[in-house]
Amino acid sequence: MVFLRSLLLFHSFTYQWNAIDAAPDDGQTRLASEAPGDWQKYVRSPSNRIVYPARIVANYTQGNVTNPRGLLTGKGSTLFTRTPRTTSAPDLPPTVVVDFGQNIAGYLSISFGGSYNSTPGRPGIRLAFSETLEYLGNVSDFSRGYNSSDRHIQGDAITPGSDQIAVAAKPYTWTDDHGCQYGSQVCADGLHGFRYVKVYLDALETDAPYTTSYGEVSIESMSLNFTPYLGTPDTFTGWFESSDDQLNQWWFDGVYTTDLCTDTFGVNDTDPRNSASPSIVGKLVLHDGAKRDRDPYVGDLAVSSRTSYLSHNVPQASRNVLADLADHQRSDGWIPPASINGYTLPLVDYPLWWVVCSYDLFMYAGDTAYIRQYYPNIIKVLDTFYESITDPRTQLLSKGFGVSGGYGDYAFIGRTGPVTYYNALYVLALQNAATIAKFLSKEGDATRWAVRAQTVSAAINTYNFDSGVGAFYDGTCGDSYCNSHAQDGNSLSIVAGVANSSRAHSVLSYLSKANARPYGNAFYDNDVVGGGYSQRVYAFISYFEIEARFIMGLADSALEEIRRLYGWMSTHDPGITQWEGIGPNGQPYEADYTSMAHGWATGIVPVLTNYVLGVIPSGPGFSVYTIKPVPGDVEWAKGVVPTPKGPITVNWQQNRVLGLFYLTATAPTGSQGTICVPVSNLSVAVYLDSKPIPNNIHKRDGEVGSGGYVSVSIEDSLTHTISVGYKLGP
Ligand SMILES: *[C@@H]1O[C@H](CO)[C@@H](O)[C@H](O)[C@H]1NC(C)=O
Ligand SMILES: *[C@@H]1O[C@H](CO)[C@@H](O)[C@H](O)[C@H]1NC(C)=O
Ligand SMILES: *[C@@H]1O[C@H](CO)[C@@H](O)[C@H](O)[C@H]1NC(C)=O
Ligand SMILES: *[C@@H]1O[C@H](CO)[C@@H](O)[C@H](O)[C@H]1NC(C)=O
Ligand SMILES: *[C@@H]1O[C@H](CO)[C@@H](O)[C@H](O)[C@H]1NC(C)=O
Ligand SMILES: *[C@@H]1O[C@H](CO)[C@@H](O)[C@H](O)[C@H]1NC(C)=O
Ligand SMILES: *[C@@H]1O[C@H](CO)[C@@H](O)[C@H](O)[C@H]1NC(C)=O
Repeated sequence: MVFLRSLLLFHSFTYQWNAIDAAPDDGQTRLASEAPGDWQKYVRSPSNRIVYPARIVANYTQGNVTNPRGLLTGKGSTLFTRTPRTTSAPDLPPTVVVDFGQNIAGYLSISFGGSYNSTPGRPGIRLAFSETLEYLGNVSDFSRGYNSSDRHIQGDAITPGSDQIAVAAKPYTWTDDHGCQYGSQVCADGLHGFRYVKVYLDALETDAPYTTSYGEVSIESMSLNFTPYLGTPDTFTGWFESSDDQLNQWWFDGVYTTDLCTDTFGVNDTDPRNSASPSIVGKLVLHDGAKRDRDPYVGDLAVSSRTSYLSHNVPQASRNVLADLADHQRSDGWIPPASINGYTLPLVDYPLWWVVCSYDLFMYAGDTAYIRQYYPNIIKVLDTFYESITDPRTQLLSKGFGVSGGYGDYAFIGRTGPVTYYNALYVLALQNAATIAKFLSKEGDATRWAVRAQTVSAAINTYNFDSGVGAFYDGTCGDSYCNSHAQDGNSLSIVAGVANSSRAHSVLSYLSKANARPYGNAFYDNDVVGGGYSQRVYAFISYFEIEARFIMGLADSALEEIRRLYGWMSTHDPGITQWEGIGPNGQPYEADYTSMAHGWATGIVPVLTNYVLGVIPSGPGFSVYTIKPVPGDVEWAKGVVPTPKGPITVNWQQNRVLGLFYLTATAPTGSQGTICVPVSNLSVAVYLDSKPIPNNIHKRDGEVGSGGYVSVSIEDSLTHTISVGYKLGP
């Protein structure tokens, strides 16, 4: 009886599955998600490079403004009037706050209907931009021109943080070009990354006699010339969709965030701190943030490049950055993290990310010419620079050895000694380099790096594990390990395979217990290494923890962490875009200075494509690939992964309770795939294209409790269906 019921379920499930691919006129009920082109509704890009305001933030309007809604397109004109007060009543500058509806980047234009002034000088308009309402003030939340030590930046100092306009008498269109209207007076910053802009009639005293705070100004309309990558639906070469509407939206939000950071490197719209090298100016790059920094940092690319490869397939943005940094390799092998400060910012972890990013460019985009050209740089960074900061006693990288003492990392953490993060990342880079070497038939290098990876891995396990809490220590405080455990090293120890299965489970349960916050998992369990660290969440580093959870088959805890982290960012101003860092109480971690659209926070994109859809490359350009979904509570997923030879298409559906799983996949000619489908511990039969798979090609691995996986090899470009169900016969 039980057997018969199972058999029927298997058939009805198959039937429903088949209906997905059937023509609409066959009378079958299609799944709701199967409307053609359904994923397009999640795309966040503006439809066009000219973007108009979405609404006026009504409660911010003040002073004498006639028809504030005139700043929206087609709503007439807006008149700002300000007359010198004769009484002691407050003299409020006429002000309107415009909301573009979501974070954007580019050059603002204002169509003025003209202006009038009864006194000499033109009426001044000042603009203050902000990504959030919380940090919207009389000056921008960040401005390139603003020169103040408390903003961590010394800009080119042409503005005091707002953009100034001397409004002409006759109608004309003003564009926010970088520079000054009169010598060094009446200046504007140029490009901004923002959601809100405050427009107010006012003038700087230092802009006299060209502008005054009084007069009348008429504005007809406003718009933005959107300069980043315009990721409209027709530009997507890869996409992801599943039964979980929120995951889908966050995937596309991540793509949009990385799109905002994908732009041409300009002299006057990027980080002003000596970053505009002639070798990078004019090239398409992946900046770290849309509003601030605006310099391509290679650690950020570890995430944002994957997002880019998996969505719009513009590998040249990543290649331009990686090649330029390699071209600036120092004679001791060190590779700069970015062009800032003339390629001298001393970071100890980013040269390792350069190796990992080079591997990704090879694996995702198949850029063989790049990897051949820069292979000597890989040898030099691994064999010269990192050897020079290795402690010969332990074989671990040790901060303090060689030049590394004063070096920082992605968060400028004051760490010392055999830091787990640096060493686990070193293992990952060595493994990646060994794989590259194998594909280039450099057997000696491959063996040397693989052996070193094992040596370092063993040393991390020998010296750095704190069996008291069941996680790796961070680094040393004086002669002994600090009583502190960081998310970065612990997560990467799993991603790089340093932690064996029991240690990996122990590490992840420790992070769940000690680091979970309502807005994600903190990057430290306590504040021993730095004040406030236990309350700070980086989506950047959280990506590696989430990845570790999927690698260990812990889909439920991975999805739980995703929902806390991405749920928080998506429901807090500015919404949609993913943040550089989150601080105490879920606030932007560096207040107004925080970038609220940071490509390194978009790990949701690779993690869903690599582990929920399940597609991961292990040969150049996906010539070797694995499809291994880790579904958790997701009922179905489908999507496309772009490869240089054509798309890999995957579509799967599961019934978790009954242990049923169906997957169809198609890959380009000439690729070698391994498809792994999860099996339950119930009575199992696996079919490849409706034929039972003979027992001798079953390969079970993974966790016993979850039943493991059955894998099959695919070497053609046909569409294959693999189904897991109950036994059809005795
Ligand atoms: C103004 O309205 C926005 C919503 O549009 C709200 O978030 C904000 O708190 C309000 N501010 C004031 C000062 O009322
Ligand atoms: C506001 O400006 C308009 C147009 O310039 C003017 O007619 C009106 O008197 C002003 N109102 C106040 C309260 O100053
Ligand atoms: C902005 O300027 C107005 C008057 O010019 C002033 O009252 C207000 O306090 C300023 N706001 C901020 C946030 O500095
Ligand atoms: C910027 O400010 C710093 C002090 O914070 C000062 O030393 C420097 O000269 C200023 N730069 C310009 C261009 O004004
Ligand atoms: C950058 O700005 C400076 C100062 O405003 C200007 O002289 C220069 O021409 C600009 N360069 C470019 C490439 O726009
Ligand atoms: C993992 O490594 C630890 C320490 O070497 C060892 O005690 C444990 O048995 C290992 N676990 C597995 C599953 O191999
Ligand atoms: C299958 O595994 C689940 C949980 O992993 C367990 O609760 C259940 O008892 C197992 N069933 C059988 C038939 O082994």
